[in-house]
Amino acid sequence: MEPLYVQLADSIARQIEEGVYPPGSRIPSVRRLREQHEVSVTTAVEACRLLESRGLVRSRPRSGFFVERSRPEVLEPAVPAHSTRARRLDAALSLRLNLGIGNPQRPTLGAAVQGTELMAITTVNRLLSQAMRLQPTVCHSYDAPPGSPELRRAVAQHGLDAGYSVSPDDVVITSGAKEAVYLSIRAVTRPGDTVAIESPAYYALLEVLASLDRKVIEVPSHPRRGIDLDVLGKVVSRQRVAAVAIVSNFSNPSGSCMTDAHKKALVDLLDAHDVPLVEDDVYGDLAFDGSRPKAVKAFDTRGTVLYCGSFSKTVSPGMRIGWAVPGRYQYEFEHLKLVVNQASPTAPQLALAALVEGGGFDRHLRRVRRLYAEQMERMIDAVDGAFPDGTRHTDPRGGHVLWVQVPGLDSLALYERAAAEGIHIAPGPLFSASGGFRDHLRLNTGFPWTDHIASQVETLGRLVAETLDGPSS
Ligand SMILES: Cc1ncc(COP(=O)(O)O)c(C=O)c1O
Repeated sequence: MEPLYVQLADSIARQIEEGVYPPGSRIPSVRRLREQHEVSVTTAVEACRLLESRGLVRSRPRSGFFVERSRPEVLEPAVPAHSTRARRLDAALSLRLNLGIGNPQRPTLGAAVQGTELMAITTVNRLLSQAMRLQPTVCHSYDAPPGSPELRRAVAQHGLDAGYSVSPDDVVITSGAKEAVYLSIRAVTRPGDTVAIESPAYYALLEVLASLDRKVIEVPSHPRRGIDLDVLGKVVSRQRVAAVAIVSNFSNPSGSCMTDAHKKALVDLLDAHDVPLVEDDVYGDLAFDGSRPKAVKAFDTRGTVLYCGSFSKTVSPGMRIGWAVPGRYQYEFEHLKLVVNQASPTAPQLALAALVEGGGFDRHLRRVRRLYAEQMERMIDAVDGAFPDGTRHTDPRGGHVLWVQVPGLDSLALYERAAAEGIHIAPGPLFSASGGFRDHLRLNTGFPWTDHIASQVETLGRLVAETLDGPSS
């Protein structure tokens, strides 16, 4: 039996669906709910909060809870039908582009970074100085590759939220997810090997594969469901693929989030062909409705998923702390970590362990998820208002990137025009090994909404129209 507040929330949700409370209207006040349903104030408030976290209502200070406006059916970006041939990569494009990452005080639409308001700066600072004060020797000495026992324990606890149950001994701390992905690829593949990736793909993964001389096959990915398993199935049965690499939840740039069934089917498929999976799950904690999606790792029974997580997207990218659960490749992984940089800095590890174990991490997540949801909504509204008819975009349920397609657009030309006006965007080809997605762009929604961002999107809409009209206009 569900708790009372969940039952109450479900019954109001049904009434919203049936039109009893239309979009924009106010649902009964807490006092009214208490009287109507004979429940306590706490139960009524919790029911309203649950509805809010599901995105059905929104609270307005001193006015109550209002039903969210429903969004017109979203026109999603198109999905290519086939995989590409295996090819060597040239990742030079990413080095040429400026995504505006330089100044954390200045919102950028280009890089997938968040505003400092969405980090846990004050708390982490306090915990950092606490670690330095209480454990000065540990903080200043060399650590060994698996990382701090405290943080590995905290990560193992956190893993339960993502549906995987491991011991602290199964966790290796890294300098961000980027290093975890890099070491994972190195642990399971050799130069010249082929790695299958989702398409579009996180561009830093393309850089990793290029720098390690791995070839890639791009497998189409759906903007909601993620990597196409039919196509991937054909790829892995046709040729030797040394590994598959994906971002499983709220992928970058597509925002896709694989269902549990899809995740399980992926594990089954890869196990049948003996192919390891490098799973990057840096956005999984940022589900707008608070329901943390499972990791693919949750379905891994043979230790063939190398899971990569991070505190960058949730707490602080500057701490450079991530982790891996490399499964049966742990020995190779730890050895590579030792070779590359011995271990990650100790004080940030201790501070983040204290943040997770003290409950501050979960509290922080509850706060920022709502902000991310709001920022995404504002961005979608702004793009819908400013971009030409025919524009398609995703409707992500978590994370902070929006993937936009404007049929006919040359996004590299748009990039130049926008940069000249001080606006950074990430053009589509950045996310492809084969120059694809020329008419796509990725917009970052990691900053609290301001008039400045609104005017940047408006200017971008004008520049998109001008770019479509050709160079002479
Ligand atoms: C999908 C994905 N993985 C990894 C990273 C980098 O993570 P970290 O800062 O932990 O290295 C990013 C940052 O944008 C990302 O989008």
